[in-house]
Amino acid sequence: MKNIKADAKHIQNWLEHINSFNSTPDFGTTRVLFTKPEVAARDYVKSEMRALGMTVKEDAIGNIFGIYEGTDPTLPPVWTGSHIDTVLNAGMFDGMSGVVAGLEAVRMIRTAGVQTARSIVVIVYTSEEPTRFKLGCLGSRAMAGKLGAEDAKKLHDDDGKTLYDVLDELGFPVDAFDEVPVKRGAVHGAVELHIDQTGVLERDRKTIGIVKTICAPSVFDVVVTGRQSHAGGTSMDERRDAYMAASEMALMLEHLGRTSTSEYTTVTVGRVDVIPNAVNVIPGCVKFSIDIRDCDFDKKNELIGRMKKALSEIAERRGVTYELTEYNNDHPMKCEPAITQKIEAACKAQGISYEYTISGAFHDSMLVGEFAPVAMIFVPSKDGISHSPEEWTGYDDLAAGTDVLADTLIAMANE
Ligand code: GLV
Ligand code: MN
Ligand code: MN
Repeated sequence: MKNIKADAKHIQNWLEHINSFNSTPDFGTTRVLFTKPEVAARDYVKSEMRALGMTVKEDAIGNIFGIYEGTDPTLPPVWTGSHIDTVLNAGMFDGMSGVVAGLEAVRMIRTAGVQTARSIVVIVYTSEEPTRFKLGCLGSRAMAGKLGAEDAKKLHDDDGKTLYDVLDELGFPVDAFDEVPVKRGAVHGAVELHIDQTGVLERDRKTIGIVKTICAPSVFDVVVTGRQSHAGGTSMDERRDAYMAASEMALMLEHLGRTSTSEYTTVTVGRVDVIPNAVNVIPGCVKFSIDIRDCDFDKKNELIGRMKKALSEIAERRGVTYELTEYNNDHPMKCEPAITQKIEAACKAQGISYEYTISGAFHDSMLVGEFAPVAMIFVPSKDGISHSPEEWTGYDDLAAGTDVLADTLIAMANE
């Protein structure tokens, strides 16, 4: 925008205020879906939306829509936004930056008196992080028609509470679950600003990353069962050690990731439970998670095929059994060139450096892309560290990203 720039101070204030809703103030930020701090953060964002002249709505799964009305509200709107829930002991930027950039873009548009034909909607998607229900992108997944009331009745947290019951208790209109899916054509396009979580922008000294493809995850749980026995009494030949089998499985997974021929693949074993977890006991059972990401769906599935073969081979050789449960196998999302070109034009017009990049992290845009054209604007993160209390993004970079976002939204909203 010519006459008005994003204000880094506003962005900082909003982020710090959201960050004050935190279950672990002594060690990063933890804001898990529908815990007290998360609900308080939602209320705060809704009140800020109203203060900016937006009408606020929520759907059955808790997605928040802040609607800044255009001159022709009958036209399909333009969406922006991200999430405000976090992983455990996270930072204050992953997700929140995209919501705050949306608020600041609306503030700029409003202050400048710019009128757009289409409405601009700032969205807080419910639980992008899989922290509570082990499945990510709950809100956008439901919008894409991939998570209905029956699924919400099956998803449960560590205390055995289902997503459906939690929503119901909080007063969300669970009877209207059928109204959550968004029809193709109902949204003109969606742009999400997010922090780069790889470090590539910092390394390349670029302020903006224009995302080409969003990698998609496949998530599994593995339960390896061996035989629990005495650490001294069981000879090396006799043991059926679930931990050693799981370790070999993990190294096999790392090897598959390292030798992938895809443009971008990651394989992570992030959660491990060793049972009984005692110094002088050979573990009889190990449970661990597998998170595989790829920007190519076919190559991801080939890798999963190789993984399944290798898991059986390791289990058989080590005399253990295993059970593999798949949670999701999502599709990578290609960003819409008609929108990425607008982002590029905004960078050029404002003299902001940029490059095209791939998102190794998943985002709500991955699922929104199932029913609307999507694109993403990345801003640098320090050392590429995220999902950590050390996560950091400069407020000036966020302001530059917001300037680009505002121009992109205006261009889309006047189409
Ligand atoms: C989302 O935060 C992810 O794990 O990519
Ligand atoms: Mn995240
Ligand atoms: Mn995120």
